[in-house]
Amino acid sequence: MRRPIIAGNWKMNNTASEGVALIEALKPLVQDANCDVAVCVPAIDIPAAAEALKGSNIALGAQNVHFAKKGAYTGEISADMLKEYGVTYVIIGHSERRQYFGETDETVNKRTLAAIEAGLTPIVCIGETLEERETGKTEAVLARQIENGLKDIEDLTKIVIAYEPVWAIGTGRTATAEQANETIGYIRKQLAEKFCPKCAEKVRIQYGGSMNAGNCKELMAMPEIDGGLIGGASLKPNDFAAIVNFDK
Ligand code: PGA
Repeated sequence: MRRPIIAGNWKMNNTASEGVALIEALKPLVQDANCDVAVCVPAIDIPAAAEALKGSNIALGAQNVHFAKKGAYTGEISADMLKEYGVTYVIIGHSERRQYFGETDETVNKRTLAAIEAGLTPIVCIGETLEERETGKTEAVLARQIENGLKDIEDLTKIVIAYEPVWAIGTGRTATAEQANETIGYIRKQLAEKFCPKCAEKVRIQYGGSMNAGNCKELMAMPEIDGGLIGGASLKPNDFAAIVNFDK
């Protein structure tokens, strides 16, 4: 049995004080969750969020990490810097980073390996664009992202994968539960081939893209879907809590 994981991706929202207020509102709403819960906050919110999350069942996540241990990389943040504040998860290769910040499968791979090495759990994002889906390239794109992005990972169970069709992110257009289930099933098959069947069975694969309080139950009922990476709905405590409590 794979334990579900619901993670919020705040993206570039919430100042530190706004983030603390959100966390304080969220804590009592999710304290009886039967799944892993995390919030991935902007880097500068991390110290305040870490303090606010103390003693709660909500884990702290970051939205990116650099692959070097340290050095001349202006504007970047290392895994050790995140670890010092008790960060446990880190989103890597989100489609917004691929689209706006030149992230490639190769840099995704380097960041992922560095995060694992430091003891962080990467949430590695993969997914196709609308054009790629409409021209029948979904499987090829995912296979490439897996092949290159997850290269040289020794223990696949140390990562979480987020399948996020780019056309469903922030658009209000969700993949149908069947579509998401089928595509995640394909991802798992690829992992079984490229890594091993046993670890493919164990690795948690989230769905992301306009998941909300209204559609989460249907998505989470699908056998291949092990959780959600939640953008917009993670900014509202009640909405995010409803997703975390999908099984209640
Ligand atoms: P969304 O974002 O829920 O707002 O579509 C998901 C994500 O980008 O992780």
